Amino acid sequence: MKVLITGGLGYIGSHTAVELSSKGHECFIVDNLINSNRDVFNRIEMLGKHPISLMMVDLLDQKALADVFRRFKFDAVIHFAGLKAVGESVKNPLLYYEHNLMSTLNLLKEMKKANVKKLVFSSSATVYGDLSTPPITEDAPTSIINPYGQTKLMVEEILTDLAQSDPEWSTALLRYFNPIGAHPSGLLGENPNGIPNNLMPYLTQVAKGKREYLSIFGNDYPTHDGTGVRDYIHVMDLAEGHVKALIYLENNTGAHTFNLGSGRGYSVLDLIKTFEEVNNVHIPYRIVDKRPGDIAVSYADSSKAERELGWRATRGLGEMCEDAWRWEKGLEKSVDKTME
Ligand code: NAD
Ligand code: UD1
Repeated sequence: MKVLITGGLGYIGSHTAVELSSKGHECFIVDNLINSNRDVFNRIEMLGKHPISLMMVDLLDQKALADVFRRFKFDAVIHFAGLKAVGESVKNPLLYYEHNLMSTLNLLKEMKKANVKKLVFSSSATVYGDLSTPPITEDAPTSIINPYGQTKLMVEEILTDLAQSDPEWSTALLRYFNPIGAHPSGLLGENPNGIPNNLMPYLTQVAKGKREYLSIFGNDYPTHDGTGVRDYIHVMDLAEGHVKALIYLENNTGAHTFNLGSGRGYSVLDLIKTFEEVNNVHIPYRIVDKRPGDIAVSYADSSKAERELGWRATRGLGEMCEDAWRWEKGLEKSVDKTME
């Protein structure tokens, strides 16, 4: 398949591009480098099996995007591009609504014009909010607590309307749980700008000595050790899920929602302990106040993805911790970000 990957130089997109290329698909990446680095492309090419095309295009630039669709005929699109920092979205909601919605609308308009009607969309478990008792199934009620999550749900709704309006559209709305880990080569991984918001990138920076200690946000949640429980999923498992979703769309029209998670919940302390054990490093931590908006427990019921896509997560927490640490240790000066 000829696949356009928006945001293909980012964390999840880069791993997915390698996986697609290794499975024989022809990949075309568009990215505006707002949260990535040109060097990632060389690494994707090194790890993939087929030549990959890169176009530095901003999805907000409709003309440039139209040009991409004029130059190439795609079979399907995987849409990763977007802004994803929850705190920033609360401070600057207009930026998030404009960026995430306009870029998606531009993309959908060009897809429609070019008669490309297969799309995999990066949604998030954040759309479930705190209304449901885990394990969370796709039909659980949604509840949005920040503008970032709202943009995810709005795009899901746009894609559902589109599929209802035209039976030729096939879309997969993939609700990721907590992606962590890195490519086992140590060449690709997550490299957030500034101070990491999420647990694993913060933890690896503490392990490396870039940060003094990890703050654990609360230890009196109703969980086995009081710290928050999440469903961590290896980014390579996630990448494989996208390939399976593309294959599914070849034979299934309509809009289809899938949870992609491991189905297991681990606490912050579980993660720290596993990381220390498998990597033989010490992680200093302090218990601090809860982070506003955090929920106690979240993990997926991913049986729909197993049943319909033939996908399930196979990599365990230890492997996620080993791969994340190999990546952090190997971060070269060229892609490493300066300390704040
Ligand atoms: P990322 O920031 O690493 O990757 C996004 C990529 O898109 C970056 O390379 C960025 O430069 C590019 N980009 C952003 N806006 C663009 C635009 N207008 N035009 C062209 N390129 C643009 O993020 P990620 O972690 O790989 O996440 C990918 C997608 O998955 C995002 O939509 C995110 O919201 C969603 N998601 C991520 C997580 C997570 O924990 N990482 C969880 C759930 C959902
Ligand atoms: C975050 C996003 C969410 C996104 C999800 C998927 C926020 C507020 N939410 O959720 O929108 O869908 O990632 O990747 O960013 N923790 C600490 N110390 C830290 C960082 C985190 O104790 O320094 C704890 C949190 O309280 C939580 C767990 O670690 O219990 C995981 O946190 P994080 O990695 O930020 O993910 P989520 O909060 O699940």
